[in-house]
Parts: sequence; structure tokens; C-alpha cells
Amino acid sequence: MDPFANRVAVVTGGASGIGRALALALAREGARVILADLDEPGMAQVADAIEAGGGQALAVRTDLADLGQVQALAERAWVSFGAVHILCNNAGVSVSGGLETATYQDWQWVIGVNLWGVIHGLLAFLPRMIAQQQGGHIVNTASMAGLIASQGLGVYNTTKYAVVGLSETLVKDLRPYGIGVSVLCPMGVATEILTSERNRPPALQNPVGTKGEPVPLMGPTLTAEEVAAQVLAAIRANRLYVITHAEGLEPLRRRFQRMERAILDS
Ligand SMILES: NC(=O)c1ccc[n+]([C@@H]2O[C@H](COP(=O)([O-])OP(=O)(O)OC[C@H]3O[C@@H](n4cnc5c(N)ncnc54)[C@H](O)[C@@H]3O)[C@@H](O)[C@H]2O)c1
Repeated sequence: MDPFANRVAVVTGGASGIGRALALALAREGARVILADLDEPGMAQVADAIEAGGGQALAVRTDLADLGQVQALAERAWVSFGAVHILCNNAGVSVSGGLETATYQDWQWVIGVNLWGVIHGLLAFLPRMIAQQQGGHIVNTASMAGLIASQGLGVYNTTKYAVVGLSETLVKDLRPYGIGVSVLCPMGVATEILTSERNRPPALQNPVGTKGEPVPLMGPTLTAEEVAAQVLAAIRANRLYVITHAEGLEPLRRRFQRMERAILDS
């Protein structure tokens, strides 16, 4: 069966960047798309573009850090489209700065979106995806920062390593249900990620004077469309890892060699 035609896809963070490109690519392949984001004008633009291309889209303002809102999103999805087959847990935010300077607000905000957002997606969607018995696919957006720990990105790295670990387990847990799992691990992609602070809620603003300097994107910068194409190919091939940048290979190899040496030396 074609994984996209006449299927229903949910894309969190679908108003911008990688989520926007994923939503447009899924719609081009014939999927009906539900966008979930805080950015209502951004979602409206993406939904308009999908509909202009003859597709169907629904935009639902959702704060992924809030379980109740994600459950309401799932309810809207099933009421509107009767099923969900592809869930892209993609929304994310980034803060920079050494861990010794990270604030409680930094931890709360970034874990809330990047890790709880993914967990909320699973809690709200998985039981019904399993119950409908139509297979499907879950895409979790992590990062190369979930495989390699860059200095100055400790809070972000923590959440992305967790999303990789969650995905590596999820793929095993969901095999009996015919639901595949992919974890997206890009280096630099041309998006709005470096202005993530635009989405920080007032209650989690940092005390004045604690803002870290942005860490530049790693590796050559891909377009969001190039990354989305790799994700769709991974769904088709039912491949777990989507590692978009070949430049990640050497640092990954060095990491595993250091671990190997630690085992051999002990
Ligand atoms: N751009 C990169 O270089 C890069 C590299 C690796 C991983 N990623 C990951 O890709 C994913 C998408 O980010 P992007 O680069 O497209 O950035 P982006 O800022 O362009 O898009 C992120 C989207 O998430 C939304 N969002 C933020 N907080 C939200 C919340 N609480 N609830 C709902 N929506 C929320 C934003 O409004 C925005 O539309 C993130 O998980 C990010 O960590 C990005």
C-alpha cells in the first residue's frame, strides 16, 4: 500500500522550517495533513498552499508542551478525518549556552517542547493508531545533537538524546502493530530555529542577563525541502535513522571508537 496516498498525517511545528516542508511534501504525495503549531498565521499560509495544490489541510493551534491540548488535537484529527496514519513529532526549540549557566526556565521550556512534546504526541495518538489497525509511521525529529554532544548546546542535547533513545525503543515496541518509526537527525538546516525564543512562553522567560550566545548550525546547511524528501524516503523504506548529513559520519565514528577504547581499557 502507498504510505501517503489517502492517508492522514499530523505534523507538529508545521508552520515553519522542517515541519512546513514535511507538510507540503506529504500533501504533494496525496496525504491529508493536520498542522499543529503555536504560529497561526504560519499554519494558515501552509494550509492555503496545500489547498491551492488540490490537497486537504486542517490547522489546529496547539501548545505541544500541554498534554490536554495535544489530546484535543488528536480528538480533532479523528473527528475531522476519521484516522491518523503518520505522526510527525517535529516541533522543537533551542537554547544555547554552557550547562553551568542554564536556568530552570531554560530546562523547563526546552524539555517541555522537545521531549514532553514527543511524549504527549505518543500518549494522545498511539492508542488510537494501534486500535484502528491500519499500520502507519511515526517520525520523531531529534538532531545530530541527539547523537553527538556539541559544547554550548547541553540543554538541547539532553532532549535530543532522549528522543533518539525513545525512538530506538519505540521501533521495537511498535513492530507487532505494523507501525514504523523514523528518527530524524539533521545537522544544519535553513529554518527559523535560531530565533526559537519567539516561541518562549512569558512564564518561562529567563531572568534578565542570562541569555546565551547562539551556537552556529553545524555542517553545511541543507534546505528544509531536502530534509523532508529524505524523511519521506525513510518512511517508504521503513528506515529508523534519517541522518541527513554525511559530515556526521566521522564524529559518530570517533564517539564509538572512544567507547570501544573505554571497554578495551577497562
Ligand atoms: N534547523 C536545524 O538546523 C535543525 C537541526 C536539527 C534538528 N532540528 C529540529 O527540527 C525541528 C523543527 O525545527 P526547525 O528547524 O524547522 O525550526 P523552526 O523554528 O523553523 O520551526 C519550529 C516550529 O515549531 C513551533 N513550535 C515551537 N514551540 C512550540 C510549541 N510549544 N507548540 C507547538 N509548536 C511549537 C514553532 O512555532 C515553529 O513553527 C526541531 O525539533 C528542531 O530541534 C533543526
